[in-house]
Amino acid sequence: MKASAKANPNFALVKYWGKRDEKLKLPQNSSISLTVSDFFTHTTIEFSEKYERDELVLNKKKYLPKNKEYENIKEFLNQARKISGTSLRAKVVSKNNFPTSAGFASSASGFSALATAVNQALSLKLGKKGLSILARMGSGSASRSIFSGFSEWKKGKKKDGSDCFAVQLKDNNYWNDIRIIACIISKKKKSIKSRKAMRETVKTSPMYGCWLENIENDLEKTRHAIEKKDFSLLGKTAEHNCLKMHSLMWTTIPPIIYQEPKTIEIIKKVFEMRDNGLECYFTMDAGPQVKILCLRRSVPAIIENILGIAKERFVLKPGRGARVSQNHLF
Ligand code: PMV
Repeated sequence: MKASAKANPNFALVKYWGKRDEKLKLPQNSSISLTVSDFFTHTTIEFSEKYERDELVLNKKKYLPKNKEYENIKEFLNQARKISGTSLRAKVVSKNNFPTSAGFASSASGFSALATAVNQALSLKLGKKGLSILARMGSGSASRSIFSGFSEWKKGKKKDGSDCFAVQLKDNNYWNDIRIIACIISKKKKSIKSRKAMRETVKTSPMYGCWLENIENDLEKTRHAIEKKDFSLLGKTAEHNCLKMHSLMWTTIPPIIYQEPKTIEIIKKVFEMRDNGLECYFTMDAGPQVKILCLRRSVPAIIENILGIAKERFVLKPGRGARVSQNHLF
């Protein structure tokens, strides 16, 4: 009853922001993302009678009951125990090879890896759809990291969430030329977690209705751009969608502003590069980091342009979906 898994984060091109059910993590809107290469979470879980309570070690740090992280994972394991009918406690050890909780979607890779490991350890025999639903119960965006390449998380309509899961649009080999340059602006833990931030936004931003009215249009354009490999349409739509999401945050009461001065500096640099004929677009999630979308041939010139602003950068490609690993962490 021991298993390990690895999963990569995904960056949303059309974002998920706001829930219709807090407990089941059902979103207000569908979203589309790209699972990326290189960054991953590696997780090992063991269910056994030898554990009196769940044990959790994340990035070499031990977490105890009452801690938020611990309680989130315990709640997730309770859902899995309910599905399998076991009452066994578990030990979870997990580590990321990239900065955690800073807007690099570590909750997406984290819960996607955990769902995959739990499925194996408890022999739940869930297929991709079931895995996506299970991962979603940990963190909404994790539903999409089950898949490689481009995926769409369908918001569904049902109250029990049984129609709310991600599906693959195209795998990681489909559009080899796409690159995401992930720029590290700050490694500080973010000021407010996305879970709380989106709850406040839905409650207080006067723009929220407008976000929902527009979203189908962004989804349609993005599906079309992926199908036709139309990079300009993909980038334009993703950048605009990201700015709309952050406008929601800015107009939340009290306001949520994840950007740091260097975040804005990179954004302006992206505009300048585009004006100079170097095609690239930006996107940002719940943190100060900026991800620059571009095609492979533009990477060297873009790096040259941002050298002085973002000291640490990672050039990522479309990446793999969640997978079982034979390599145990304990
Ligand atoms: O799944 P969460 O709670 O980590 O929220 C993710 C929210 C964004 O990253 C900002 C958008 C998205 O769709 O991934």
